[in-house]
Amino acid sequence: MTAAETLTAPTTSLELLDLEPAVEQMARDVVEALSRSPQKELPTQYLYDERDSALFDKICELPEYYPTRTELAIMEQHAAAMATAAGPGALVIEYGSGSSVKTRRLLEQLEQPAGCVLVDISREHLLRSADELAARFPEVEVLPVCADFTTPFEIPTPAATVQSRVVYFPGSTIGNFLPSNATRLLQQMAEQVGPGGGLLIGTDLRKDPAMLEAAYNDAQGVTAAFNLNLLRRINRELSANFDLDGFRHEAIYDEELGRIEMLLLSRHAQEVTVAGQSFWLSAGETIRTEFSHKYAVEGFHRLAAKAGFAPQQVWTDPNSLFAVHLLRQA
Ligand code: AVJ
Repeated sequence: MTAAETLTAPTTSLELLDLEPAVEQMARDVVEALSRSPQKELPTQYLYDERDSALFDKICELPEYYPTRTELAIMEQHAAAMATAAGPGALVIEYGSGSSVKTRRLLEQLEQPAGCVLVDISREHLLRSADELAARFPEVEVLPVCADFTTPFEIPTPAATVQSRVVYFPGSTIGNFLPSNATRLLQQMAEQVGPGGGLLIGTDLRKDPAMLEAAYNDAQGVTAAFNLNLLRRINRELSANFDLDGFRHEAIYDEELGRIEMLLLSRHAQEVTVAGQSFWLSAGETIRTEFSHKYAVEGFHRLAAKAGFAPQQVWTDPNSLFAVHLLRQA
């Protein structure tokens, strides 16, 4: 597959900009991450394939996983204020759109949006969401882009006149990046929205570690299945031979660094082969699959300032679990 093909997907009337990473790219990313020493890793973005996106949607409904419902409640209560602040004729660019439930709250309130660009790495999931959004908002042009948003990608141009660009990045997904990479991603967004452009972004706040650990170690084991499924996907797509029973899900909160680490712990010494390369794991050795950073409001504003974004407004829930920020490119 080439890097930038514009395809019309069979199931939809929407034009898809298809920049899905090729399997060779995935092989390189996975081998590189597993080669890291002393901490082996797997690339977080590959957690979100078709099956995993469905498992992720299940996580969002777990009693222990407060972020999704809390952020949605913030959107329900404050979307009108957010839309007013964003202004008329905005082109919304949603990063990691998933099922775009929160985006609806925003589109319902925006005055004459110029369009809605949905960017997601999971193609089928993206097309389904794009179709649903287009059906719900027939007057809004929906522009799906299948891409790994961590590398620069082009933003399609809608037919309507764009008065401003606003990146919408909900879900606290920014927390999955190390601060240095988060800054780089925010810089990319700053370039995409241009001077005066906006960033509406959800961040999970720091809180009681017990509540955080429960959210990533749910009683039903959905998060564990989500994490382990990454190995199944790598087996399938890269002809690897991970033994899923040989690994156990773990999620640990590092209070000092303010982040959850999701790990896969090797239950015994074992060798795995991925894309023709062998890797040794000792008993108890871990592979890190995801970070989830928790920021205090000021801490996040400091990070955003490095990318040229100045805070404009912040909305939180009554229990201060989650924050949605509107920032402006200075
Ligand atoms: C929505 C991608 C940010 O870090 O909380 C949930 C991902 N991982 N449970 C998060 C996730 C395990 C989630 N993000």
